[in-house]
Amino acid sequence: MRLSRYFLPVLKETPADAQIASHRLMLRAGMIRQQAAGIYSWLPMGFKVLRRLEQIVHEEQQRAGHIPLLMPTLQPADLWLESGRYDAYGKELLRIRDRHDRDMLYGPTNEEMITDIFRGYVGSYKALPLTLYHIQWKFRDEVRPRFGVMRGREFLMKDGYNFDLTYEDAMHAYNRHMVSYLRTYERMGLKAIPMRADSGPIGGDDTHEFLVLADTGESEVFYDRAVTDLTLGRREIDWNDRAQLEAIKAEWTTPYARTDETHDEALYTQIPEDRRVKGRGIEVGQIFYFGTKYSEPMGAVVTDESGARVPVHMGSHGIGVSRLVGALIEANHDDKGIIWPESVAPFGAGIVNMKPGDAAVDATCGELYQALTAAGVDPLLDDRDERAGAKFATMELIGLPWRITVGPRGLAEGKVELTCRRTGETEALSPQAAASKLAEIWSAL
Ligand SMILES: Nc1ncnc2c1ncn2[C@@H]1O[C@H](COP(=O)(O)OP(=O)(O)OP(=O)(O)O)[C@@H](O)[C@H]1O
Ligand SMILES: [Mg+2]
Repeated sequence: MRLSRYFLPVLKETPADAQIASHRLMLRAGMIRQQAAGIYSWLPMGFKVLRRLEQIVHEEQQRAGHIPLLMPTLQPADLWLESGRYDAYGKELLRIRDRHDRDMLYGPTNEEMITDIFRGYVGSYKALPLTLYHIQWKFRDEVRPRFGVMRGREFLMKDGYNFDLTYEDAMHAYNRHMVSYLRTYERMGLKAIPMRADSGPIGGDDTHEFLVLADTGESEVFYDRAVTDLTLGRREIDWNDRAQLEAIKAEWTTPYARTDETHDEALYTQIPEDRRVKGRGIEVGQIFYFGTKYSEPMGAVVTDESGARVPVHMGSHGIGVSRLVGALIEANHDDKGIIWPESVAPFGAGIVNMKPGDAAVDATCGELYQALTAAGVDPLLDDRDERAGAKFATMELIGLPWRITVGPRGLAEGKVELTCRRTGETEALSPQAAASKLAEIWSAL
């Protein structure tokens, strides 16, 4: 993409009503535009990041054997009357009446609908285990939408639902979700810690929330510092190996880590004092096991091996995809702007043309552009006729992880400058060397 042809409406002024860094930076970098309280348009660069996150979520879900589908945003109220949640859910549920006076709602989550799909087709244990998921917009009429996309009313969520014959099978699905979520967040360059949580209106027994540590987070968290040292890395995972997944869950959930809702001061004070941490976190996901809470009232039953009809064991598992864009910025920024991790950056590198119209500079920019595109870096070429300072400030604000600066003086010596956004370090390299260095980083992602 050439910046002169792109739509990147950056703001000069810091928006006064935005209280936290991610909200301010998303507005300033032209990523989102508020259309109503808690409802946003995703402008091209914000949309690109959202798509990158969706892609990682899809890849990791499917790696774990989960199957994508797509359910609608609008749902008939009937399904929610069956489960009893139509009345129980309260004011967050946006109720809508269509022209035929039928009660509808904008889905805040999809347990009822997925259970309806399941019962419509599945009657035997032989179709199990089954996990279906989608990435779809949700609506919750939050009292106080705030912090931009972090607490919106309309937001994008990945929600997945497992159907299993037994409690043990459902716990294996739970563990699969826990491990696939750990992988998902790690690939995004985030540290998200599973913490034992409260189940809220979804209902259920076993549940963990995933929290990204940040001072601006809305949840109060208490944890053993040891949990922050854990990484999954590139270890080989066999998604059918129950013992392996159970062991990984144990690794992450043995150190104390809880939100204020389930915090237990007596247990907490058993941690050595120098490892006790009290802080704040952003909830970026949650997994639940809730057994037959929906399958029983809604009649999602299968015949088991003995021919008996039994309700299936279920769980639901969510990732806040749009909230993650904000959480990523909270975790990765400085006073100049955003600092995207390579895996989720809207563009992997910015090429700054210091003298548009200069034949040699234009040609080198063009060659770099092609080499980086071929390597999957997806560069943004700043070919505008602007002051160098303004161009650098834009690149720093939008946070592309790498910048290649191409100017006539450097080129006379066969060199361009490669600058790392995170460290600020710059090195002079040949254009080919700069391109291969980035190609190498991207091939390792
Ligand atoms: N209003 C919202 N705006 C953006 N993302 C949200 C919102 N509500 C929930 N999410 C995201 O969707 C994920 C799964 O939804 P879940 O039902 O667990 O939300 P929740 O526990 O009600 O969230 P919260 O406690 O923050 O209101 C959450 O972990 C969060 O990342
Ligand atoms: Mg939650």
